[in-house]
Amino acid sequence: MNFFASAIIFFLFFLNGNLSFAQKTNNGAIYSGVSWFDDRGEIVRAHGANILKDNGRYYLFGEAHSDTSNAFAGFNCYSSQDLYTWKFESVALPVQLSSKLGANRVGERVKVMRCPETGEYIMFLHADTLTYKDQFVDYATSKNITGPYTFQGALLFNGNPIHKWDMGTFQDTDGLGYVLTHGGDIYKLSDDYKSVVEAVNKNMTSGFEAPTLFRKDSIYYFIGSHLSSWERNDNYYFTATSLKGPWISRGLVAPENKLTWDCQSTFVLPIQGSKETTYLFMGDRWSYPKQASAATYVWQPLSVDGFSISMPNYQDAWSIDTVTGVVSTAKAGDKTIENTDKKFVTFSGKWKHVKYNSFSVYSSYEKDASCSVKFKGTRIGFYALSGSEGGYASVVLRNSLGKTVASCLVDMYCKYSFPSLKFISPILPKDNYNLVVSVTGERGNWTDKKKIIYGSTGYFIPIGNFIIKN
Ligand code: GAL
Repeated sequence: MNFFASAIIFFLFFLNGNLSFAQKTNNGAIYSGVSWFDDRGEIVRAHGANILKDNGRYYLFGEAHSDTSNAFAGFNCYSSQDLYTWKFESVALPVQLSSKLGANRVGERVKVMRCPETGEYIMFLHADTLTYKDQFVDYATSKNITGPYTFQGALLFNGNPIHKWDMGTFQDTDGLGYVLTHGGDIYKLSDDYKSVVEAVNKNMTSGFEAPTLFRKDSIYYFIGSHLSSWERNDNYYFTATSLKGPWISRGLVAPENKLTWDCQSTFVLPIQGSKETTYLFMGDRWSYPKQASAATYVWQPLSVDGFSISMPNYQDAWSIDTVTGVVSTAKAGDKTIENTDKKFVTFSGKWKHVKYNSFSVYSSYEKDASCSVKFKGTRIGFYALSGSEGGYASVVLRNSLGKTVASCLVDMYCKYSFPSLKFISPILPKDNYNLVVSVTGERGNWTDKKKIIYGSTGYFIPIGNFIIKN
């Protein structure tokens, strides 16, 4: 083989085998309950997040997490034009040497706002011990949106720190900034956003974690969750026409017992388009202990009508035109491959075929039992039936050269039976791919501060049908 032929073959190998993600990673829609992959092909790690629009681009900040402990692992920053495809920008705030946000502390619920007075970016966060016994609302600052942010320590009110855990932020239309804490407290920030000048709302309710506030016209909507650690619950909300209240309790955000479509609120982003404003509800589907590889996002369009907000249906995939603000339904794939189709799907180990309503499921809890799908196309996804006995599945997608192009863990746990999309690959170069889903024999469960046990009681991996894109 001459030099040119080998160079071309090497180049093709390089392109197909190694650079699948060097092209612009395209996710094509907003997906909930699945891992997202960034421009590097890595799982997007941004929990307890918020989004800040700056110079026409969306910046997502969130907790990085690890699969081994709950210790602070840094806050990541990603950016996007369309809210589908995320470019990794930076570890905006890495693990600090300072004891308040060092490797043996908790760092959560990062929120960034741009201070209109100074033009600085101010990051707010909750810092704590691993046992949640030394809580502070802290802040960090940066001249650039992507950081690096300089950790400044406690946010002070009359010279005193705020000893609260779950927190959020809200910027009003007049540019004033607010910090929210669990219980529904609202603190007004100084003009430079670096201290608190007024406690605007106090002791609204008990609990009310993951506080999230947004405004439409003259109404403020204040969403929060009950206290159930990483377990999801029915999030609820209040409304008011002034941040000082009175706040009126208005009920649940999603249908009862759906546990806010199995997530916990973190932020609502108004997307103001030329035709309409869409309210993007952002939530976390936690997955302790594998938060880095298996926790996902539930992002749904929130319907806002007078004093009432709702998310009546769960949408696996939907589209938003960020220019017009118009929402439409999205199709994940072109073709369904039934899990019974032996031409494409092979099972190894012990699997049981069951039907849940009309949902066809192959289920196994035998460690290392696996299911493999061979297909030609540009994308694959699958549905599964999450339930109270769901375990972790390992998912690996390889291209025709045997190179792994996407991998993650999929958590099949949900307190109720929930058929939904559980994996979708990014759109990749057309190739022959092999997807392998295996039973890990592990499950997500944990105890809270009172030693109450939460999470899954089994290791089941119940796989539904597959979808592919040609
Ligand atoms: C949740 C809270 C999370 C985290 C977790 C720890 O309720 O919203 O941010 O603190 O508890 O158990």
